[in-house]
Amino acid sequence: MPGYPVLPEGLAYGGDYNPEQWPEEVWREDVRLMREAGVNLVTVGVFNWGLIEPEEGEFDFTRLDRILDLLHSAGVYADLATPTSSPPTWFRRRYPGSRLVDREGHVLGGGSRHSFCPSSPDYAAASERIVTALAERYAGHPALAMWHVHNEYGWANAHCYCPTSAEAFRAWLRDRYGDVGALNAAWGTTFWGLTYGSFEEVEPPVAAPVGVIPGLQLDFMRFSVDAHIACFRRERDTIRRFSDLPVTTNFMIPNCKPMDYWRWAGEVDVVANDHYLDSSRAEPHIELAMAADLSRSLAGGRPWMLMEHSTGAVNWQPRNLAKRPGEMRRNTLAHVARGSDSAMFFQWRASRYGAEKFHSAMVPHAGTGSRIWRDVVALGADLRKLAEVRGARVTAEVALVWDWESYWALELEWRPSSDLRFRERMEAYYEALWREHVTVDFVHPSADLSPYRLVVAPSSYLLGEEPAKNLHRYVEAGGHLLVSYFSGIVDENDTIHAGPYPGALREVLGVTVEEFHPLREDETVTLEPFPATGRIWSERVRLAGARAVHEFADGPDAGHPAVTRHDLGAGSAWYVSTALDPGTGLRDLLGRVLDHAGVSRPRGLPDTLELVRRGDHLFLINHAETPATVPGVTGTGVFDGAAYDGSATVPAGGVVVVRTQAPPS
Ligand code: GAL
Repeated sequence: MPGYPVLPEGLAYGGDYNPEQWPEEVWREDVRLMREAGVNLVTVGVFNWGLIEPEEGEFDFTRLDRILDLLHSAGVYADLATPTSSPPTWFRRRYPGSRLVDREGHVLGGGSRHSFCPSSPDYAAASERIVTALAERYAGHPALAMWHVHNEYGWANAHCYCPTSAEAFRAWLRDRYGDVGALNAAWGTTFWGLTYGSFEEVEPPVAAPVGVIPGLQLDFMRFSVDAHIACFRRERDTIRRFSDLPVTTNFMIPNCKPMDYWRWAGEVDVVANDHYLDSSRAEPHIELAMAADLSRSLAGGRPWMLMEHSTGAVNWQPRNLAKRPGEMRRNTLAHVARGSDSAMFFQWRASRYGAEKFHSAMVPHAGTGSRIWRDVVALGADLRKLAEVRGARVTAEVALVWDWESYWALELEWRPSSDLRFRERMEAYYEALWREHVTVDFVHPSADLSPYRLVVAPSSYLLGEEPAKNLHRYVEAGGHLLVSYFSGIVDENDTIHAGPYPGALREVLGVTVEEFHPLREDETVTLEPFPATGRIWSERVRLAGARAVHEFADGPDAGHPAVTRHDLGAGSAWYVSTALDPGTGLRDLLGRVLDHAGVSRPRGLPDTLELVRRGDHLFLINHAETPATVPGVTGTGVFDGAAYDGSATVPAGGVVVVRTQAPPS
């Protein structure tokens, strides 16, 4: 099977290259500048369908031929994309049945990308034809390093509600359930008397008055993931008939909620991710780190590819903030620290026209006399020096449970509180661990947990019986588990596990929950003995084997357990029944749980200093405006050859990468 790395040496550096927006003399300048910056891989052809198949079945490869030849002559490799995320205008006119329909029944317009139904047989036939033509023509081209199928599956067309999708959904349900009785049982359709007499009666969950069957909604989400994966497989398998090069598609981890990337991960030869900073966040690099750790986890710990990020502002947020001096470098190196073997951008040269003309690029509108360009050239030099990290692994002692199905289920309508948000809890725990300088992996709840000293489940509302047993076995065998409230409540059909909450986790946690007491919007509760506060949630916890570590001092559950610990087998299971304040409460508790689990970590560092070990290399990324000194560092600076013998000082906003002999104490 084709694999990774895609380039003969070093880390991949480059971006989306859209030369079709420019006259040919600009292309020659492009490749000269690519050489200057050390670019060695560019993604080409992503949105070229209408250009290379201007009429149905008529191909014109002249421009793409010239571009690939030019890249090859300049020593730049191509990540050749299939252009199927943006069907040509003739396709839309000729096949109106392929148009995307939203929940409200609107047929969405053209003049945009992603405007097609993933279940359309006409789309399948047309995309297979263009992919076959591309693969046949370019499989042997010497510029090619890899294939980039489509662009961001599910970005804007995750769910289609057209008649074709409805029919495909019914076929998917027949396949899953066999007979309609099994479907009725799974979805609990005796509720409101919504029992289906046949599969023909099932509609996708289009806009309806209120409270649509949760099992129907979850299955439609699963079906939609499968519909997109089927599109990917069709293209990948077509390419494989002609080429042995690695095939991937760019994910949007974790910012495309409808795509269950655990299901996707096994389909690609290398996991590739696009990541953009969220300008509305005060410290967006923490979410970046989370995305990078998730990408590595989806790759099963193997190196992955950062397929897109930005040199500066994007164009699609309410306020598109430029990156501050040093921020691009910190961002890129944080991705590399967390396992990426590439640093790719959207895009090479900023567009003058079209929907994305205010998006930053490696060559900005300001040209090469700009800070961005100088930074791009300097980054290329840094990445060449970092070539030695290629292929190296990041290991983690702590895992966070992340399940897209639980994400979907938690955020269906009519939950005990609208403040119950998957990302809110995941990010609260991730951030606390990031600030403790603990690198984490993400795991599906049914994964092998034995490599970890501590497993944290911040938001596992939906948890099937088998994954719950997996957690139980992990603790009995000596693992340590930390679970946050409203976890283990329902099974994969959103049916509550029988008996008191938290059904699936009752035994491992040694508690039952008698009643939920969600808090008002600004309400807080206090915990004792340590001065911590809780928000969002309180509940009446009854001990059933566990002991109370903290109690609520006030609020609806005053005098009752707030945090519990259950020693079970050779391990322990901790339960937290409120949203601890991130400042002291959560970090303090986590610190104690990390100690109890024996998780090693550096102490006494500023919590704005990002520290990650990748193989023999220690990455120190300083997000603060003052220098930071890290004790216990011995080795050689990769960028400047500096010798470190006992400590390393990282300049304000700077990055130091040390080839170490020994880990920091
Ligand atoms: C990505 C997409 C690119 C470009 C970029 C802008 O999601 O793949 O084509 O649109 O966003 O940030």
